[in-house]
Amino acid sequence: MTATRIREPLKANFSDQTKQEMSKIVLVTGATAGIGEAVATRFAAEGYDLIVTGRRDERLQEVKRKLESEYGHRVLALNFDVRRKEQVQANLGNLPEDWKAVDVLVNNAGLASGLNPIQDGDIEDWEKMIDTNIKGLLYVTRTIAPGMKERRRGHIINLSSIAGKEAYPNGNVYCGTKHAVEAIGKGIDPVAEKQAAKAALLAQQAALKRCSPL
Ligand SMILES: NC(=O)c1ccc[n+]([C@@H]2O[C@H](COP(=O)([O-])OP(=O)(O)OC[C@H]3O[C@@H](n4cnc5c(N)ncnc54)[C@H](OP(=O)(O)O)[C@@H]3O)[C@@H](O)[C@H]2O)c1
Repeated sequence: MTATRIREPLKANFSDQTKQEMSKIVLVTGATAGIGEAVATRFAAEGYDLIVTGRRDERLQEVKRKLESEYGHRVLALNFDVRRKEQVQANLGNLPEDWKAVDVLVNNAGLASGLNPIQDGDIEDWEKMIDTNIKGLLYVTRTIAPGMKERRRGHIINLSSIAGKEAYPNGNVYCGTKHAVEAIGKGIDPVAEKQAAKAALLAQQAALKRCSPL
């Protein structure tokens, strides 16, 4: 996972005062399942309003209902495919006025598809992973980051993987996409990882919670 600080490090200890001082909109891509849903739930528990996205609208509406009823915060559900830049722009480039000031972007939507030696690789799998994990992340970031820059605040958390640090046998293309995610994060702000360690930790904890029966 890489996390990029646009201005101030996210405070993860969340005292009441801190909560008030922090603006409160988080956008989580791919929140219909897995880590994205867990991260959205954790941010809701910490008092954030949420923009949740995904392609499965029924599932998305279910997540919205659950977060609204359990945590009582505003939830905006946006149904689109991050691989389609016109859909990304139509949904995120035209956010309602009271949703525009996104404080935290969690680029989570992503997948691993296929595990083949390179000579047997399925090109459709490759395209799916490259288009989602790299290009989708870039389309979303390109749409949201200008507002952060203008407001001089915001955090971008990119879901990388151990696969972004090491390549494992036959993980060729997936590992390639996650190495790209790492490089993109570092390229946005070379000192980001250290400064945003707490933000990364927060997302990691949510992921661990999801994986652990405890
Ligand atoms: N699970 C792990 O062990 C693990 C480890 C390291 C890193 N990661 C990374 O963590 C992220 C989440 O993984 P996960 O295991 O939680 O996956 P998951 O359970 O399969 O969930 C993936 C989420 O991404 C969304 N998504 C996928 N393709 C999309 C697209 N084209 N447009 C919009 N949304 C899309 C899915 O929503 P819809 O299907 O509704 O669109 C779903 O909400 C990924 O980036 C993955 O590479 C996972």
